[in-house]
Amino acid sequence: MACLTGAGISAESGIATFRESRGLWNQVPVEEVATPQAFARDPLRVWQFYDARRKQVATCAPNPGHLALARLEEGLGERFTLITQNVDGLHQLAGNRNVLEIHGSLWRLRCTGCGEERDDRTVSLEPLPPICECGRMLRPSVVWFGEVLPEHAFQPAIEAAESASVFLVVGTSAVVEPAASLARVAAYQGAALWEVNPEITPLTPLCERSWQSPAGPVMDEVVDLILDDFK
Ligand code: OAD
Repeated sequence: MACLTGAGISAESGIATFRESRGLWNQVPVEEVATPQAFARDPLRVWQFYDARRKQVATCAPNPGHLALARLEEGLGERFTLITQNVDGLHQLAGNRNVLEIHGSLWRLRCTGCGEERDDRTVSLEPLPPICECGRMLRPSVVWFGEVLPEHAFQPAIEAAESASVFLVVGTSAVVEPAASLARVAAYQGAALWEVNPEITPLTPLCERSWQSPAGPVMDEVVDLILDDFK
């Protein structure tokens, strides 16, 4: 059993999604803050954006949708794989221990020189841009447009999709690849696709079950159904 989450699961925690009318990418152009070219051109601008996101996300708490998925991990243990496109760390705060962060994390920094990674929850970071002990600039350890996904997270995500009997998709527009294809791979290999999203997505027609609803009010019911199935 595997679950792929997107920005929608954190919407009820007060974190903006990306592509809805008030979404982040409608406020700040992707090309200015979320590409390697943008960082090469103006690292301070990019860091100001990520530092502000860190500050905002630090004020947010997990909501009932996250908590339901923590309960799912508690019930299924290693039979459950949680794959998230989110970089906010709220699944871990809710109690999930095994989270495949395929788009990285706001709370991890990576050196552009020596490649060293470190966790850092400081808000605000000083100086900006932050500097590694080796003297080179640190960058947010998130995946930018045009970059490949981290192998250590994406490979087990593919394996989980290939072997899942139920693949649940929560709060993603399913338009960003290769994340969206995880659900297609799962369906192709015979998994039942389940979806929770107030909107129709490209995956909806492939779904065996779909809850056209925000995650918070229905995730407990969805998790109960899964736990019943896997008893
Ligand atoms: P999007 O902003 O593309 O989609 C958010 C989805 O959440 C939409 O389908 C909404 O209908 C749904 N939604 C909104 N409120 C919800 C709620 N309360 N409960 C459940 N669903 C809700 O965000 P993602 O699909 O996560 O990548 O975007 C994928 C990737 O694109 C992100 O990881 C990010 C972005 O560019 C990177 O930054 C690499």
